[in-house]
Amino acid sequence: MLSSIKARVIAFYMTVLFLTLSALGVFLYFSLHKIVYNSIDEGLRSRARALATLVTENDEETELGLSDDLMRDYTSPRSNSLFQIRRIDGSTLGKSSALRDLDLPFQDGRGRTSFETILLKGEPTRLINFYVREDTSRGNGERKPAPKSKGHGLVVQCAENIEERIDLLQRYGVILFLSIVVIMIVSASGSFLIARKALAPIEEITETVDRISESNLSERVTGRNIPLELKGLAASFNRTFDRLESSFQRQRQFAADASHELRTPLSVILSHGEIALRRERSAEDYKNALAAVVKAAGMMSEIVQKLFALARLDTDKFELRMEHIKIGDVVRESVKMLKPLAEQRDITINIPSAETVAVRGDHGALLELFTNLIDNAIKYNNPRGKIDIFVRMEPVFVVTEIRDTGLGIPESDLDKVFDRFYRVNKARSKEIGGIGLGLSICSEIVRLHGGRIEIKSKKGMGTTVTVYLKGDKDVAQS
Ligand SMILES: Nc1ncnc2c1ncn2[C@@H]1O[C@H](COP(=O)(O)OP(=O)(O)OP(=O)(O)O)[C@@H](O)[C@H]1O
Ligand SMILES: [Mg+2]
Repeated sequence: MLSSIKARVIAFYMTVLFLTLSALGVFLYFSLHKIVYNSIDEGLRSRARALATLVTENDEETELGLSDDLMRDYTSPRSNSLFQIRRIDGSTLGKSSALRDLDLPFQDGRGRTSFETILLKGEPTRLINFYVREDTSRGNGERKPAPKSKGHGLVVQCAENIEERIDLLQRYGVILFLSIVVIMIVSASGSFLIARKALAPIEEITETVDRISESNLSERVTGRNIPLELKGLAASFNRTFDRLESSFQRQRQFAADASHELRTPLSVILSHGEIALRRERSAEDYKNALAAVVKAAGMMSEIVQKLFALARLDTDKFELRMEHIKIGDVVRESVKMLKPLAEQRDITINIPSAETVAVRGDHGALLELFTNLIDNAIKYNNPRGKIDIFVRMEPVFVVTEIRDTGLGIPESDLDKVFDRFYRVNKARSKEIGGIGLGLSICSEIVRLHGGRIEIKSKKGMGTTVTVYLKGDKDVAQS
């Protein structure tokens, strides 16, 4: 039920508001309650004190010394003054005529002034039991009748009908309650409107994100209404879409390039096969046709193998089996594999002597990396050329340089040689046998190892490829 942010915000806000208003309402109600009862009690206490001053005692008995006027006022049946003066044993000394034959409730033995609310003739009435002796013994300075003997004392009881005050308090309580209800309703609608307005940009962003699909990857989350807090979210969505778009673009380009590259050997196979089958041919012709088919199939196999390697490396899930690897060992292994090719072209390879320099890497992937780079240095070298391989330690990286004395790469092509299927001179590459995936594979391998690869070259002046891989200190120190 509270799954939406809007509902949660409103519920939280309303709960806090309800609790605050309720606490305030209770506080206000009881404050007024206290003020009203204090004022009633103070009134009753003053009347009781005034009555107490009118009591006189002599040796024989205690008497009420009410003046005629006062007596008239207190005892007139029309008077609302309710009082009853009792001895400490509860016997009545005098009472107001408004009480008629009723007695005010009296409990013997309380011994101190007390207030209580009683029902008198079915109406709420506040009553004070004012102990004269006790009150005077506290030294409150009023004129006091001196008790003659121990146990002798007076209780002045005054009462006041408080029905109207209770009504007033009840009305006040109802008004407070209704005010809270009205404030809650107004606040609920207000908070609903505020929440809806505040969350509108999120809905806008959701709609835009929903609209963006594979076929519509160029749209972005924009809008003047996007508040500051959501700008970061929108920017991060846009960055994700940028990456997705360029990734889709690369995938499309890759698929187009791959099918294009595969089409050439396929058409060679098809055409040679068709021509050979068209009529009876000599054994020599069949042999030639089959040789062409095998060469094209071999090229296809190499393309497929490299595409597969790239596809595996391209996913970030590709798992490297990291271990301590001495760079010198991997380079030597690569050179050994490529030795026949180098000898064929009479190319000298000088391998590094740095025995201890090591990196943390995947053996198979690093072998592939150096084989590709040295393969290039042989393929694009001049006959009887030279290849120098250097390894050195830098603070973070182990740097491997492969320098050749070959054709070099024009400056304008340098930043493109890592693109898939890019070859500087297509015709020449075809002749040499390159398909343009070697350096792409190299850059993926280096990226997965957290390193980088750079290429420097000048046309006709040879090429230097530099690989930076993170050094493995344990082995480097050993
Ligand atoms: N050492 C080098 N000297 C001169 N040109 C080079 C060198 N290395 C790479 N290149 C150029 O860069 C291009 C891309 O190299 P890359 O290794 O990616 O592809 P390839 O060698 O053509 O094919 P593959 O390695 O997939 O068999 C090459 O076609 C070549 O033109
Ligand atoms: Mg290559």
